[in-house]
Amino acid sequence: MPKASLKSIASYIPNKILSNSDLEKMVDTTDEWIVKRTGIKERRIANDDEQASDLGTKAAIKAVERANLKIEDIDALLVATLSPDYFTMPSTACKIAANLGLKDVTAFDVSAACTGFIYLLEQAKAFVESGLKKNVLIIGTEKTSSIIDYSDRSMCILFGDGAGAGVISLDDQNTILDIHTASNGNFGNLLMTQRAQKSSICHPLIMQMKGNEVFKIAVQTLSNDVVNILAKNNIDSKDIDLFIPHQANLRIIKAVQERLNLSDEKCVITVHKYGNTSAASIPMAMNDAYEEGRLKKGDLILLDAFGGGFTWGSALLKFGGENYKQ
Ligand code: UT7
Repeated sequence: MPKASLKSIASYIPNKILSNSDLEKMVDTTDEWIVKRTGIKERRIANDDEQASDLGTKAAIKAVERANLKIEDIDALLVATLSPDYFTMPSTACKIAANLGLKDVTAFDVSAACTGFIYLLEQAKAFVESGLKKNVLIIGTEKTSSIIDYSDRSMCILFGDGAGAGVISLDDQNTILDIHTASNGNFGNLLMTQRAQKSSICHPLIMQMKGNEVFKIAVQTLSNDVVNILAKNNIDSKDIDLFIPHQANLRIIKAVQERLNLSDEKCVITVHKYGNTSAASIPMAMNDAYEEGRLKKGDLILLDAFGGGFTWGSALLKFGGENYKQ
């Protein structure tokens, strides 16, 4: 039975920084409140002329290079995003495929909010292990700034822009040990995109969240999910080399880290510098760890994510790429 492996990781981080002190000038908030409640100090914002597909394309090119492949070796391109270039079509995946010069490739978007990258991992693993595809490019990319109301202090402090990508290919070893994805649509109204005003189809979509309710369910759900995936695979948390969680709120990450009894060295945290980049947050955090030399070939990593829908999931895998070279 052929086995799938994550052969590379890469990211693209926009240059423009939106700091807490910038936000203090825009809404009624303070750096102290934001840091205490979320751990976020700054986030990146894409340029006006950059869309989610542009950010994703830059991460994708690097991910393909790092997998030692050519663009034309990619036979499926899957994108997770909640801030696509266009509403319904064309998909951001099709836009990225066009940017890459890929003309005959399976390309589609997955809508699973902040859990999107874990959903993509599962899809890519299934494609490769079934023999349907050989090299699947998976991309989490977000221009969340395009769906944020910058007069809403409860939301604009949380989110940032960026992209991360990886390539899943065949391997002779079983490196993607397990993936669990789940959803519960009954909670959809707690975190959703609405039209800014219902009177016109031209008004933009904006994100809204009942933050405190989402927070409590996220902590409970994620804590149970990581414990379950470890138990199911007979793996003790002390055997994890790196825990790379979705970066929504430092307090959520710390609660799960404590439940797993993991040291700070084993936990990757980027929320302070990028904020919540939704589907891009896990591959962006993974790439930071990779470029810092913290993530190496064969390392056992645990991922978890929770987001709108609700959706959530976790993954246990050994990194299958080459070690980072500058
Ligand atoms: O990635 C997808 C999943 N998302 C998440 O997991 C996010 C989950 N939620 C959270 O991270 C937290 O709930 C937030 C960071 C969004 C909010 O923190 P909180 O401790 O749950 O605060 P809260 O919503 O209960 O608000 C407490 C107070 C309120 O004032 P009152 O009603 O107590 O007078 C808010 O109006 O803080 C107020 N507040 C603010 N104050 C200063 C809300 N936003 C701000 C702000 N600055 N930016």
